[in-house]
Amino acid sequence: MSSSNSYILSSKTTQAKTNTDLQKITHDLNNILNNILNGLDSIKDNIDSNNVANELLKKVKSQAQLASEIICEISDSSSIKKTKNVVSLNKIVEDSIYLFNVEENKNQKIIYTNNCEEDFILANYTEIKRAILNILINAKEAKIDTYISIELNQISNNNIELSIKDNGPGINSDNLLKIFSEGFSTKSVDHPINKGLGLSIVKEIIEEHNGNISVDSNPGNGTLFKIIFPLFKKEKPKKTFNNKTIIIAEDDQFQREVLKDLLCSLNIKTLAAANGEEVLKFLNSHYPDLIIIDKSMPIMDGLECIEIIKEKSLNIPIVLTSGSDIELYKMNRNITEILRKPYNFEMIQNILERLL
Ligand SMILES: Nc1ncnc2c1ncn2[C@@H]1O[C@H](COP(=O)(O)OP(=O)(O)O)[C@@H](O)[C@H]1O
Ligand SMILES: [Mg+2]
Repeated sequence: MSSSNSYILSSKTTQAKTNTDLQKITHDLNNILNNILNGLDSIKDNIDSNNVANELLKKVKSQAQLASEIICEISDSSSIKKTKNVVSLNKIVEDSIYLFNVEENKNQKIIYTNNCEEDFILANYTEIKRAILNILINAKEAKIDTYISIELNQISNNNIELSIKDNGPGINSDNLLKIFSEGFSTKSVDHPINKGLGLSIVKEIIEEHNGNISVDSNPGNGTLFKIIFPLFKKEKPKKTFNNKTIIIAEDDQFQREVLKDLLCSLNIKTLAAANGEEVLKFLNSHYPDLIIIDKSMPIMDGLECIEIIKEKSLNIPIVLTSGSDIELYKMNRNITEILRKPYNFEMIQNILERLL
């Protein structure tokens, strides 16, 4: 099994380390990975869209993204991991399936149906993805050529249900009572480290999200996991953000998507840029109500871009996001607000209430 899967299984026993050396190492590793990711982006930009290398690039990128998440996990400064945001459950499911297919052999087949119109939940993307992957890996380990069918359904006004069914050997009633217990496993001793932790981690993650997981299985009839999450319901906003447009500038695709989802859940239109130059291009044809821009980006960073915007005398509020050194920019008059990363839904909503 690949190293990332054993990571998924071993996470519970990996205590976050707090010393500054570790923080420095993870910081440097993250920089290296960001360079790799940026490099992959520029390779992609420079090859034809139907070049066969595109699919390979996508796979390499997804692996680099996973490595970045692992680094976040072992770093004490990995509050991204714990931060809950408004995310699309459909998107997490799609990403999990993609990652699973990249990692695993082609023998198993997954059929996914999304029957939901509403699918926003308040969640930590990485944790939910890990939970789903654990269930998929178990299904694969139960039967080599398994079929897995996944469905997303809105089961009530406030709840969404993710069901994952396989056609494997099933689980007998005695074992069924034990599968969520820490350390329970029917797998052989040569199974990877941390045997029997997977489903206890899954349960813990789901319950941390105010969700519920149940299982239904009979020997010979496969296994069905049902996970229910509370849907994220927009509070009656003090203000309505309809018809508002925000430019998001963030080079990290994952963070950009999370922010996009979050704004989308508030009916805000977004224009997403990966660097300052792309922001300036948008400004040639759009006049947004707000710009949320990351400090460190390749090609043109946030600060340089902000200077150029201000030279244009555009009266658009600008929020600078940064993971560090925010004190340094408090005196910059061109910046309306500074938002420290990782930010959560409340922090963003608070800024929007004030600036839009
Ligand atoms: N899809 C499945 N089909 C059959 N058995 C399963 C399935 N998922 C989990 N199990 C059972 O639950 C046990 C516990 O799973 P887990 O906590 O992930 O630990 P591990 O995979 O290391 O055994 C497994 O050993 C297996 O007996
Ligand atoms: Mg397992």
